[in-house]
Amino acid sequence: MKGTDMKRSYKIFYVLLTGLLIGSLLGCNENTMAMEKEKGKAQMNNKKEQFGTTPDGKKVDIYALTNANGCVVKITNYGGIVVSLTVPDKNGKMGDVVLGYDNLDDYIKNNPYFGALIGRYGNRIGKAKFELNGQTYALAANNDGNHLHGGIVGFDKVVWDAKEIQQDDAVGLELNYLSKDGEEGYPGNLKVTVKYIWTNNNQLKIEYSATTDKDTVVNLTHHSYFNLAGKGDILKHELMINADIFTPVDEGLIPTGELRSVKETPMDFTKSTAVGARIDQDTEQLKFGLGYDHNWVINNYDGTMKMVACLSEPTTGRVMEVHTTEPGLQFYSGNFLDGTITGKGGTVYKHRTGLCLESQHFPDSPNKPDFLSTTLKPGDKYSTTTIYKFKTK
Ligand code: GLA
Repeated sequence: MKGTDMKRSYKIFYVLLTGLLIGSLLGCNENTMAMEKEKGKAQMNNKKEQFGTTPDGKKVDIYALTNANGCVVKITNYGGIVVSLTVPDKNGKMGDVVLGYDNLDDYIKNNPYFGALIGRYGNRIGKAKFELNGQTYALAANNDGNHLHGGIVGFDKVVWDAKEIQQDDAVGLELNYLSKDGEEGYPGNLKVTVKYIWTNNNQLKIEYSATTDKDTVVNLTHHSYFNLAGKGDILKHELMINADIFTPVDEGLIPTGELRSVKETPMDFTKSTAVGARIDQDTEQLKFGLGYDHNWVINNYDGTMKMVACLSEPTTGRVMEVHTTEPGLQFYSGNFLDGTITGKGGTVYKHRTGLCLESQHFPDSPNKPDFLSTTLKPGDKYSTTTIYKFKTK
């Protein structure tokens, strides 16, 4: 072999060797990643336990969904209630960030919708009636002559069929319920599925879907009361809502139909602001709501997933983003909590110790032709998704 040929062979040999080395390194990386994933999977689990029995004899379970970070969300199939949700603060210390009770009986006796699934219609329908296709439907009037959160026995008070969900990067629970034609006054048999998915990124994803066999109205939401500090009131929590407009209400908290700018009012959360900074200002809307209890109109709604709100708590550094495909957000500042409820671990829930961020279509839409329609027809599928994303800063 000539000298130049030998040099060329050496070169080829080295290129091949380097290639082999890089290849095996990459392969090794892939293996490590797969192993990590397996490790994550191994930690993820869904533990089912009995939670109790309803007065009419139905057995109810509670599911502890643990993600790969060891963060646990507990959900019961009674009302689809999120009983607890544990996430780390900025120092890694775990804490429960939702209000609730330790046992089923307390939820059955007196639940101001702590953690519950809300349906058939989230929030109020004025005078508890609406017209559809020329027919008037009278609904259960459970709130000063109005209809609130689906009526006397809303979706928050029924036992759902539950199925466990396992995904590569999440654990979950699928809940199914058939709301019969005429239930609480609504037309049509409504088949509802709600999937709670608890991901390894500490995101609680809620997928709602429904179909009907007669024209009806549907507006599903979730009613957790959040307190990112896990104690005290929520007045120092900072909130951003991506909305330039809100829907003002009358004394009965029914929207008047007006779409009003938030500009230069205490309803302006376009920049992150402490919840308590303006809550007691002397304005008609804050008086009617006894604080914040209004629907915000999300900017640039087009039915795709958008970040609509961000809540943060300065002492713990906990942050919760709300993403949704819905056009509205009800921000309720826990104004009806008054210290008469003793919840988990003997905690007395005083005024404004939790706040709700409920993704939705606007309250009273069935009576407001100018609001986006909430009518569902046979053959169509109701389908919305909301994600509560937990982080720290
Ligand atoms: C909603 C309503 C409030 C109140 C709470 C539950 O958020 O808008 O007015 O009824 O639920 O107490």
